[in-house]
Amino acid sequence: MNIDMSNLPEHIGIIMDGNRRWAKANGFSKIKGHREGANTLKRLVEDANKLGIKYLTVYAFSTENWKREESEVKEIMNLLREFLTECERNYAKEDYVVNFIGDSKGLAQDIQDKMCSVIEKTKNKKGLHLYIAINYGGRDEIIRAVRRLFESGENNIEITEQKLSEYLDASGVPDPEFIIRTSGEMRISNFLTWQSVYSEFYFSDKYWPDFSIDDFKLAISDFQHRNRRFGGI
Ligand code: FPP
Repeated sequence: MNIDMSNLPEHIGIIMDGNRRWAKANGFSKIKGHREGANTLKRLVEDANKLGIKYLTVYAFSTENWKREESEVKEIMNLLREFLTECERNYAKEDYVVNFIGDSKGLAQDIQDKMCSVIEKTKNKKGLHLYIAINYGGRDEIIRAVRRLFESGENNIEITEQKLSEYLDASGVPDPEFIIRTSGEMRISNFLTWQSVYSEFYFSDKYWPDFSIDDFKLAISDFQHRNRRFGGI
């Protein structure tokens, strides 16, 4: 699959959907599906970094995902612990910055501590910036941004798009030009609500654990043929 390396999206968002359906289709437990999903994420981060993508934001756990069975939530949180521990252990040899969006205060203290440690250890890396959305909801992010803006103590605040953007979780990061969702579902599900107003969307039928680098390149190639007009002519 050929892609134009001079016309890559700077920021790609991914809704990693279909772990449980992949598990069911292959006769595995739900957690095996999520584990394979985490492996796919690790592979894709490396591939995206090699391609030269600057920002990758992935949807790992939404503010709505707490409604799942307690045992599944626990298993996803344990996978996250493992993922963060690996990031801590491997940070010296990896070349990417790891950061997070979402309401981290709603997570267990040990997870919050690991997140801070990973942010600190990777902050000066030069490669891809990976943002993992955990306990994230687009509406929740906007509400938290508005609260922070009003609590900032700034006087005579003029409310503008620029001003509110400064209080979002990943302030300063460009909006994603391109958002990919796997598993055939065609909705945004509270992902990057503010930032996605002019994103191009791509829906892959593959379940997330099966999503390969070739699928990723196919998606990017599709993006490269889009005509982006931003509401203009
Ligand atoms: C969507 O598939 C996946 C999730 C809600 C969890 C995402 C978790 C991972 C990719 C692995 C853990 C991530 C990290 C960073 C360790 P689904 O469960 O909604 O599957 P379904 O749509 O088939 O039911």
